[in-house]
Amino acid sequence: MALFRCLLFAPGTDRKKIDKAYTLHADAVILDLEDAVAAGEKDSARRLVSEVIGAPVLPPTFVRVNGVTTSHILADLQAVVRPGIAGIMLAKAETAEEVRRVDWLTGLLEEERNMPRGALELVPFIESVRGIENAHEVAAACPRVKRLAFGGNDYTADTWTTYSEEGTELFYARAKLIAASRIAGIEPPLDTVCPFIKNLTALREDALRAKKMGFQGKMVIHPAQIGPVLEIFSPTQEEVAAAQKIVAAFEEAQAKGTGVIQLDGKMVEYPIVNRARQILAAAGKIKEQPPGNIAGT
Ligand code: COA
Ligand code: MG
Repeated sequence: MALFRCLLFAPGTDRKKIDKAYTLHADAVILDLEDAVAAGEKDSARRLVSEVIGAPVLPPTFVRVNGVTTSHILADLQAVVRPGIAGIMLAKAETAEEVRRVDWLTGLLEEERNMPRGALELVPFIESVRGIENAHEVAAACPRVKRLAFGGNDYTADTWTTYSEEGTELFYARAKLIAASRIAGIEPPLDTVCPFIKNLTALREDALRAKKMGFQGKMVIHPAQIGPVLEIFSPTQEEVAAAQKIVAAFEEAQAKGTGVIQLDGKMVEYPIVNRARQILAAAGKIKEQPPGNIAGT
């Protein structure tokens, strides 16, 4: 499965930004029908997005649809369940039941459109306290769910806090999403967009916090955020070299019948080697799938 280190949002109403988004080098583009689209513009956004997704494009496209409790969801799905997109992101997902309803509707539309049932991924956007509390069941709602996405701006509004440069207010929610994803056996989650467009130092720190907690990547809203986020969610050369050294030293020790060794002042045993192999696997995937050119999802 592809690695999504950086996913760039573009408003579903803005042709210029959409066209530009596909010339940049994020791992995926997310076309938004939800919060980036004014209430009176939902129809025109649907028309534009369905026009754009008519032809298969790289990087792969996700479309974020409005929440299940809105009057837009059915028209959104009718407009975007089509071959050529990687998946649907469901805004404001709060329960497994909501996710299963969208799964069901998506399945019917896939069948109607001669697509294999289950072709499209469904990414629940968790962005409320209720969603966070139910994250375990949402993550396990149906096989179409392969990863969760965190919406930190709605979440801070829901908790009467403000998205800060230190990010203390996001810690609990992020930790819950990591745990819920592991328990459900799905991919690590995608971190929230960071509102600081002009402060790339704050963006970097925000992304690094999420990376250290176990997120696979981060969604972004502005071209300037892509480079730093891609870099932070890629293993560094030093990490790759250290992982190679760990695996080589351990394999040599294991061949001699030893299960634990000391390397550069640190203990190396099975979990450390397993983690080193994960880093090498991620680096291998990135090599095979250069930014903006990921084949398949
Ligand atoms: N995708 C593609 N291109 C983008 C972009 C995006 N998300 N955000 C900005 N750009 C382009 C601009 O069109 C401009 O292009 P140009 O130089 O060719 O004219 C360039 O990048 C510089 O943009 P800038 O002037 O700094 O920003 P802006 O004021 O035009 O836009 C936002 C700022 C926040 C409105 C814009 O970044 C945006 O719409 N982001 C996505 C918002 C979204 O989808 N939110 C929903 C998810 S939370
Ligand atoms: Mg929102």
